[in-house]
Amino acid sequence: MLEGIPQTKKTILSAVKPSGMLTIGNYLGALKNFVRLKDEGKCFFCVADLHTITVDIEPAKLRKNSFDLYSLFLALGLEGEDSTVFVQSHVAEHSQLAWVLNCFCGFGEAQRMTQFKDLAKKHGAKGQNVGLFAYPILMAADILIYNTDIVPVGDDQKQHVEIARTIAQRFNSKYSPTFTMPEPVITKVGARIKSLSDPTAKMGKSNEDLSGVVMIADEKDVIMKKFARAVTDSETEVRFDQKNKPGISNLLTIYSGFSGLSIKQAEEQFKNSSYKEFKENVGELVCEKLKPIQENMDAYSSDKELLQRKMQEGAEKARVVARKTLSKVYRKVGF
Ligand code: TYM
Repeated sequence: MLEGIPQTKKTILSAVKPSGMLTIGNYLGALKNFVRLKDEGKCFFCVADLHTITVDIEPAKLRKNSFDLYSLFLALGLEGEDSTVFVQSHVAEHSQLAWVLNCFCGFGEAQRMTQFKDLAKKHGAKGQNVGLFAYPILMAADILIYNTDIVPVGDDQKQHVEIARTIAQRFNSKYSPTFTMPEPVITKVGARIKSLSDPTAKMGKSNEDLSGVVMIADEKDVIMKKFARAVTDSETEVRFDQKNKPGISNLLTIYSGFSGLSIKQAEEQFKNSSYKEFKENVGELVCEKLKPIQENMDAYSSDKELLQRKMQEGAEKARVVARKTLSKVYRKVGF
């Protein structure tokens, strides 16, 4: 039985934005958990392309990213009889429910979202579109439309799952029980992987400095180079101490996430190693673990026809559930 997951078959949903190549932060914080949970419940894994246009992105790039992300989901084995992989914009009910939910979220509540505040600051007045503001409400629709019990996400999305709960509660108490209350499931190790070049900042696919961002699709020599250059500190000891040794702690977290060893066991393994040896070992392990995923992904992404067929099937499967919830909601609000 999985830690934190109750006995009965639950509905599990998560999504990833196709805003760029995915990083090992996405892998350790979210995707690894998707794979772990896939056979534990009724799953929905979504390519969140609607969310992606809240910041400027070239159409051709978005389309390619969506295909690549879909390939990655398939490469990870996320598709199955009870596990649906689909693209968000292919299931129009998400947007339709989001409109209703917009009317159940306070202005101030949306304004308090940390990610909105960070992005609004980063993109300036020109980039502060209403979509960016309403982002968590669309995310609430993604979650609530499948009567989701469990949402596996990295630490940065926890606040968004919480607002989905607030909205669900508000709707349920105004009408009658309609939405299931979702719970975030956050991995213990790897919920917040940091950049290798700036271990105080998140490793993100949209970081400006990509030298510290390891992509799932990066080639071995690129990965090894990024680890070799990872920022450490002026000491020599491989020890976990997030405050004083953020670089080494991040590398230990990555090693632990990929090896399955605890941080303590990883510390023990490298207690006599130099930083150089340690970084090489982390790089080697990451390459070894990513290799089969990369190979599988290439096989899928080179077959566009197969991908398109699978996308269509996935959307049809997802729509069956989404439509039911949406019509219930429409009836309740008086449409
Ligand atoms: P996104 O695309 O930014 O990230 C996808 C998942 O990866 C996690 N993650 C990380 N975990 C650990 N360390 C990191 N450095 C790191 N970077 C990213 C994120 O927490 C996330 O779980 N809003 C979501 C997409 C979304 C969604 C949803 C998620 C849309 N609808 C419904 C869950 C449920 C996002 O932008 O994720």
